[in-house]
Amino acid sequence: MPDLPIASDFSLASLNTFGIAARARRYLRVTEVPQLAAALADPDLAALPRLVLGGGSNLLFTRDFDGLVLHMALSGREIAGEEDGCTLVRAAAGENWHDFVQWTLAQGLGGLENLSLIPGTVGAAPIQNIGAYGAEIKDLFHALTVFDTASGQTRTLRAADCRFGYRDSVFKHAEGAGLIVLDVTFALPTAWQPNVKYAELANELAGIAAPSPRQVADAVIAIRRRKLPDPAVIGNAGSFFKNPVVPGAQCERLLQAFPNLVHHRQPDGSEKLAAGWLIDQCGWKGRNMGAAGVYPKQALVLVNNGGATGDDVVRLARAIQADVLARYGVQLEAEPVFV
Ligand code: EPU
Repeated sequence: MPDLPIASDFSLASLNTFGIAARARRYLRVTEVPQLAAALADPDLAALPRLVLGGGSNLLFTRDFDGLVLHMALSGREIAGEEDGCTLVRAAAGENWHDFVQWTLAQGLGGLENLSLIPGTVGAAPIQNIGAYGAEIKDLFHALTVFDTASGQTRTLRAADCRFGYRDSVFKHAEGAGLIVLDVTFALPTAWQPNVKYAELANELAGIAAPSPRQVADAVIAIRRRKLPDPAVIGNAGSFFKNPVVPGAQCERLLQAFPNLVHHRQPDGSEKLAAGWLIDQCGWKGRNMGAAGVYPKQALVLVNNGGATGDDVVRLARAIQADVLARYGVQLEAEPVFV
């Protein structure tokens, strides 16, 4: 049987990027896959609610967690072969996402560079189909391995099984809730082309005619460092709200009243609105409520200015949602998972 070093009344303050002082009733740092089956074979542990934790960069603790935290610390990364003009690269769930992306670049493999500097782990990346600067992991995804807590078995899921959407996947819904991601494989095209359709990235690369994957990564890193707070310095979970998608006709009506509205047409005719713009226009940028605040350089990011509780952040979020709804008739949906 594998070793099961279960801790009790364990502080999660350093394990969530918001820096909220929550505690877990039981905690297990998972360093090998058999520990999962062993934990679930223990009737006391199996009876507890479970929280699978990666880098803790997309969740908000609103209370202590009265259950078992499974902190995924599986490590390892490898080039897994060639297939259909792509190099397959695989990493275990506990690997740091940014370090993994930089490792692929150091191997001379392009494809993931637009997703540089996103906080969190490899195992968390597919849960919300992480995306930035015109790329999402679903575009380079090959397969992943899960541990199914219902059957105790591991199995492979392909892209269709994962049902990726904008900041969404099967893992955020009831059908996928019992699945724990163990490793993820990406297919990186041998014939790499830069993806610079995102205007801000194209501007950053102006003057470089044929940028390399490394140069694109460096541009993304420079933009993110300018606009987004480093969670090691100021607690946050990245974008706090999803960009709302509204019917085309609603966007037309809004444009008549607000001609500067920032919107992006989707393939199905709907429109994705810039939540950061909506919040900014409501005057929230840089404002604080207690110890929680709106980041002065990016209104979509809520921050912990020091000592905020989850409730402080929720109170601020609700006030912002109410204002945006009253002014634009648009309901903002939170991006992080509330625990
Ligand atoms: N804007 C404002 N004021 C603000 C913030 C934004 O007017 O305070 C405007 C910007 O001028 C721009 C538009 O809103 O015209 C969009 O802003 P930005 O390009 O910064 O991107 P975003 O829509 O706010 C999304 C992702 C980010 C990702 C960036 C870059 C979501 C919820 N957020 O932000 O992802 O890094 O695009 O691709 O989709 C995250 O999910 O945690 C995250 C940081």
